[in-house]
Amino acid sequence: MKKDGYKVAVVGATGAVGNMMINVLERRSFPVKEIVLLASGRSAGKTLKFKGTDHPVRELTDESFDGVEIGLFSAGGSISAKFAPIAAQAGCVVIDNTAHFRMEPDVPLVVPEVNPQAISGYTKRNIIANPNCSTIQMVLALKPLHDEGTIKRVVVSTYQAVSGTGKDALEEMLVQAREMASSIQWTKDDGLDKLWSGLSSFRTMETNVYPHRIAFECLPHIDVFLENRYTKEEMKMVWETQKILDPAIGVTSTTVRVPTFFGHSESINIETEKKITPERARELLSQAPGLKVFDEPAKNRYPLTALAAGEDFTLVGRIREDESIANGLNLWVVSDNILKGAALNAVQIAEILADQYL
Ligand code: A2P
Repeated sequence: MKKDGYKVAVVGATGAVGNMMINVLERRSFPVKEIVLLASGRSAGKTLKFKGTDHPVRELTDESFDGVEIGLFSAGGSISAKFAPIAAQAGCVVIDNTAHFRMEPDVPLVVPEVNPQAISGYTKRNIIANPNCSTIQMVLALKPLHDEGTIKRVVVSTYQAVSGTGKDALEEMLVQAREMASSIQWTKDDGLDKLWSGLSSFRTMETNVYPHRIAFECLPHIDVFLENRYTKEEMKMVWETQKILDPAIGVTSTTVRVPTFFGHSESINIETEKKITPERARELLSQAPGLKVFDEPAKNRYPLTALAAGEDFTLVGRIREDESIANGLNLWVVSDNILKGAALNAVQIAEILADQYL
C-alpha cells in the first residue's frame, strides 16, 4: 500500500451491488480516506452507513469525481458509458461492474485469482472492467483445470438468482410469491385439478421487471436476445471467458433466471486435452484460491445457494467424470452473485491497484 488512504466513490451506492460494495470496503478494511456515495437525484438527501457513520448520498454529476482516486461503478451500463470516461479524465481509476467496457481491448477484464497481471493495463483508459457474475465464478473453477489439462470446450447452464437483476426484481418475486401462496389454498389431500386451476389464474401475471412471472418459474432469458438467438448474458460468458482465460477455449452457454434470492448456480461440463480424473480435479480445485470444494454426495453435501450466500468463496461440488467422452468432467459451481460475482471482485481489484499501482 503506497498511501494511507484513498478517496473512493461508489456509483450506484443505493443499489444491491453498490450497497454491498460499501459493506465489503468496510469489512476488508480497505484504506478509505473519504467515501463519496453517488446515485440518482431520487436518492439525494438519503444517508448510508459506512464504518458506523452516516454519509450523504449525492446525485451523480459531471463534477462528482474531483479528487476521487478510485470509482466503483454499479449503476447500469448507460451510466457507466457516460460517467466512467468523465471520472477517468478527472484522474479516477474506474472499476466498472457493468458490461459496457468489458470487451474493449484496451480495458482489462479481471478476476484477481485468475488474471491479476491484466490490471497493469488500466493506464490506457483508467478503466478496469469487472466481469459478469456468471463468468467470474466459472473461470475461478476453470483456471486450475485449464492449467493442468488445457480445456478445449465448456458447456455451461446457469441457474441465476433474482438479486442479479436488482432490488426491483427481488421485490417483484416476493410480491408474486406471496400473492400465489396466499391465493392457492391447496393441500396434498386435494385433487391436482384444484392446484391446476389455482395456478391457471397466474399463467399470465402483470410484471414490471421480467417479461414473465419469476415466482415458481424458470426464465431462459437473461439480458437481451441477439441475432444468433443467444442472449447477451450467454454470449458474455463466451466472450469474457475467452478474454480472461484463453481465446482458444470453446464455450457454449444457456443462462436461466430462477426464483432464488442470492447465489448463482452453474452446471459446467468441461472437455480437456489431457485427462483429469475427478480425484485430481478435486485436489486441484481444493488448492485453488477463492474456491471451496463441497463434494460429499453420500452426506448430501454439495454446493447450495443457502451455503454460498454471504460468503466470499465459491463452492464447487458434484465433481464427476463425463462418461460420454474420453476427457470430460462435470461440476456444480455456486457463488454469491452480489459478492464474488460483483462487489467483492471489484474491491479485490481495488486492493491490488492500491497495493501495487496507485
Ligand atoms: P437510485 O437508488 O437513486 O435509483 P439496483 O441495480 O439495485 O436497482 O440499483 C441501481 C443503482 O443505480 C442504484 O443505486 C440507483 O440509484 C443507481 N442509478 C440508477 N439510475 C441512475 C442515474 N441516472 N444516475 C445515478 N445513479 C443511478
